[in-house]
Amino acid sequence: MSAVEGVSAMPLGLLDGLDPALEAHGLSLDYGQRRALDSVHLQVPRQRVTALIGSSGCGKSSLLRCFNRLNDEIAGCRVLGTVRALGLDAYANTTSLPDLRRRVGMVFQKPNPFPQSVAENVAFGLRLAGIRSRLELDDRVEAALRAAVLWDEVRDRLGDSALALSAGQQQRLMIARALAVEPEVLLMDEPASMLDPISTLRFEELVVALRERYSVLLVTHNMQQAARVADYTAFMQAGRLLEFDTTDRIFTNPRLRGTEDYITGRMRESGGL
Ligand SMILES: Nc1ncnc2c1ncn2[C@@H]1O[C@H](COP(=O)(O)OP(=O)(O)OP(=O)(O)O)[C@@H](O)[C@H]1O
Ligand SMILES: [Mg+2]
Repeated sequence: MSAVEGVSAMPLGLLDGLDPALEAHGLSLDYGQRRALDSVHLQVPRQRVTALIGSSGCGKSSLLRCFNRLNDEIAGCRVLGTVRALGLDAYANTTSLPDLRRRVGMVFQKPNPFPQSVAENVAFGLRLAGIRSRLELDDRVEAALRAAVLWDEVRDRLGDSALALSAGQQQRLMIARALAVEPEVLLMDEPASMLDPISTLRFEELVVALRERYSVLLVTHNMQQAARVADYTAFMQAGRLLEFDTTDRIFTNPRLRGTEDYITGRMRESGGL
């Protein structure tokens, strides 16, 4: 863990000996003149669920997007520092962007199915990867839908429009689409914020199950959700990563007053720098 940029947000020894899935070291990000991330240090463990919490505008989505370089699409956005994903320097010229994005998948807050069939929505990334065999496509679509715990609900509707699915089903469809290309990391940006309590419960069970195979970084505004599903929790405030620890420690005995204030709801809603 580098200590170049000042105090580390991570207790020494927490991830000793572990090979992190994602790492940010001295990561700063500007949108034009506005600084949105300021010297962020974070290590996201492999095959664990890590929750990313903090008030609106504190930089959670910006940080998530650095890990598969989705910020590249934003004009005027500048990234400084080091971002590593699965051992690769994410911003190195030698790193293949399509490969990075296949290995580091993303699920957004709002489901965005294409106006195509359920099956085609899941097959999207597989087709991009050049898979043409009907048999292989069918197999992998089914496997992804099963992994996303959606198969039983849509097995008879694979040819129907994905837009006809409920919001909770659409969100699991997005997870199936992300899983179909067999990523190693899943970035999830408030994926359950539009779901009803039952769908939220199913979603949380799914996230816990995904931990067997994937490294998950989950943004959530729901403190109970973070406490229920995350092994580790990272707390951000005003573009900085203030505290990172086991979820148990963050929720029962955080080191910083600011973390405690946020999780107990005493924090003012002033996320910006
Ligand atoms: N495309 C953009 N162009 C300019 N500024 C942006 C852009 N995206 C985000 N910002 C700014 O960067 C800061 C961090 O935004 P970000 O979306 O990362 O916050 P967040 O923690 O995800 O918030 P929320 O919880 O509301 O989703 C905010 O001040 C925001 O206005
Ligand atoms: Mg956000």
